[in-house]
Amino acid sequence: MTAKPIPLAGVIGNPISHSKSPRLFRHWLRTYDIAGHYVPLHVAERDLADVIRTLPRMGFVGINVTIPHKVAVMEIADLVTDRATLIGAANTVIFRKDGKIHADNTDGYGFIANLRAGAPGWRPDVGPAAVLGAGGAARAVIASLLDVGVPQILLSNRTRPKAEALQAEFGRRIKVVDWVQAGNMFEDSATVVNTTSLGMEGQPELRVPLDGLQRGAVVTDLVYAPLRTRLLQVADEAGCVTVDGLGMLLHQAVPGFERWFGVRPEVDVDTRAAVLA
Ligand code: ATR
Repeated sequence: MTAKPIPLAGVIGNPISHSKSPRLFRHWLRTYDIAGHYVPLHVAERDLADVIRTLPRMGFVGINVTIPHKVAVMEIADLVTDRATLIGAANTVIFRKDGKIHADNTDGYGFIANLRAGAPGWRPDVGPAAVLGAGGAARAVIASLLDVGVPQILLSNRTRPKAEALQAEFGRRIKVVDWVQAGNMFEDSATVVNTTSLGMEGQPELRVPLDGLQRGAVVTDLVYAPLRTRLLQVADEAGCVTVDGLGMLLHQAVPGFERWFGVRPEVDVDTRAAVLA
């Protein structure tokens, strides 16, 4: 009789030491008493394909993928999900028993699951959403907001052509607003999302005027260091419902953990505490 292999998973990036995923996955492995391991893998771009093709032979059942490999990994995969194709990046790779490498993107899922958990009364269809930023993270946010039925997205980015490119791709429900007028988007918006790096520790502050934020609007910031960004503080004071960005990181990891280790993990206060420790 052969012993059952211990499942291995990890996160692959360059650099990788800052990643919170090992702490998160190890917390869940302990919580659910699962014999498995989750490791950070620091891999250079030139080695990515070799490493990914080798991992299944070493007992890996899957990996999370982070910067700078989220696009390149789709080329290596045998199968890319529709949502990863739509977002243009993959963050979760599954090594299937039949040898096929399957690339998925759970960022949009994590974004929506975090909003629903943090703002239980959130109704995406009641009004437009304002989105700041048009980079990689914005793609996942836009795709998932459209998917859950937001009627219109007001999109503003410092570099306007990048917002226009997203409009061309995602269609007429996107309306581009000039960066100098970004503050005007909030007056009409039921949902507000910052996808830029502004407000993050070590980055410039988000200077967009926030006095248009509406009481009752749901406001979230993908920046989670600090947890309470200026956007969220001002939104709280304006009577908005605020949801911090740490939850997106936690929720996006749920589908991978369930697939690899066979248990759907809870995102709860202990999970947050374990990651923040
Ligand atoms: P991510 O994958 O986190 O979205 P990204 O693709 O590099 O990272 O996107 C960063 C976003 O933050 C972009 O929308 C960027 O605006 P530009 O497209 O104009 O670069 C935005 N951003 C970064 N620094 C900024 C700054 N100082 N002022 C305004 N926007 C900024």
